[in-house]
Amino acid sequence: MHTAVLGVQWGDEGKGKIIDFLAKEHDIIVRCQGGNNAGHTVVVGGQKYPFHLLPSAVLHADKICVLGNGMVINPEVLCKELENLKSKQSEHAKIFVSNRAHLITSEHIQTDAEEGKNIGTTGRGIGPAYTNKISRKGMRYHNFKEAHQYEQFIEKLQPMIVDTGFLLNQAIKEGKKLLFEGAQATMLDIDHGTYPYVTSSNCSVGGLFTGTGIFVKNIEIVGVSKAYTTRVGAGPFVTELFDNIGQQIRDVGHEFGTTTGRPRRCGWLDTVVLRYAKRINGLDYLAVTKLDILSGLPKIKICDDYFIEGNACKEIPADIRKLESAQPLYLELPGWNEDISKCRSFEELPVNAQKYLQKIEELVGVKIKYIGVGADRDDLIIKN
Ligand code: GDP
Ligand code: IMO
Ligand code: MG
Repeated sequence: MHTAVLGVQWGDEGKGKIIDFLAKEHDIIVRCQGGNNAGHTVVVGGQKYPFHLLPSAVLHADKICVLGNGMVINPEVLCKELENLKSKQSEHAKIFVSNRAHLITSEHIQTDAEEGKNIGTTGRGIGPAYTNKISRKGMRYHNFKEAHQYEQFIEKLQPMIVDTGFLLNQAIKEGKKLLFEGAQATMLDIDHGTYPYVTSSNCSVGGLFTGTGIFVKNIEIVGVSKAYTTRVGAGPFVTELFDNIGQQIRDVGHEFGTTTGRPRRCGWLDTVVLRYAKRINGLDYLAVTKLDILSGLPKIKICDDYFIEGNACKEIPADIRKLESAQPLYLELPGWNEDISKCRSFEELPVNAQKYLQKIEELVGVKIKYIGVGADRDDLIIKN
């Protein structure tokens, strides 16, 4: 069975940590879309590894990591990330870059700085690079050697640039197991997200195949959600909290962007969003991360429904003006006080934490398989 890990909110759900865990059971880990707008964190024994372009499984020296054709890649950032990795760990996964992936240039970054302000982009040139790709003016990595402005990076990167679609297809034929690493998330998807407050790629399930040049049927789709909701950048966020609880979640959860350091907007879990993500991605399981951050709250709310213009609305409207006017309808559950970071089974969790997770399963209609109880690699519960 192959596995895909997808964000199902507005990004930063903890995909990196889940990828690092699942890497053990897979042979090849592949990024499919996005670029260094992503910031995926892996924490090993207190040491933090933030990855932007490299797949989050790159610390596993016996694996192969692929940067797929659907990505937009800044060569300078890639080289820096490789150097940084080498300085921390000499042995790492073997890395390949698709010869069909597009380059991000300094012009893209400049345009993003000028045009991306209203959206609150990460400023990494992502939108302009994809704009060039779609308008058939992009530059791809098979031409990298001829791109003189990147001469200083050629020696390092050229040996990694291959036809990764072919490589992945060969691997599948040999019975190898693939792990797809989603970046961003469903609500940031260019088609299905809160347009125009989105990123410029398909970060839901469709992007896995267009972004890699393969197709597999035997794949388990894991949607990653925080136990609450966060968003960086502008755009509608129905369950956003502007009070002390929102501030507490931000402080306790260290909710500051991995890529830009911006404070993340925080709010309650929104199951209208999660059901939408289930429909779009065909989720098999959920991974619920950062449950530990909710410890100590006397009451926890979950949004089950929206009211828009006086009517109950169980779907995400296409028109963001409607979404901006939506009022959340909440269920309220009792919280728990215990430190749960040492819990390693569902049964060890406080009863109220168990009930909270069961309520999520019930409202979303997807079983939870992984539960995050701390940032470290080992702070994870596998639920049977
Ligand atoms: P990603 O973009 O989806 O990979 O997520 P990020 O790495 O941007 O943000 C998630 C943050 O939460 C990182 O700092 C992780 O180290 C941290 N994290 C992940 N899972 C957990 C968890 O279960 N508990 C806590 N406390 N932190 C977590
Ligand atoms: P990971 O993979 C959270 C957001 C930006 C902005 C919008 C468009 O770490 O979950 P872009 O630079 O992509 O044109 O910005 O998308 N955004 C993310 N938010 N996590 C991410 O990635 C994001 N990547 C982009 O904040 O609102
Ligand atoms: Mg992130």
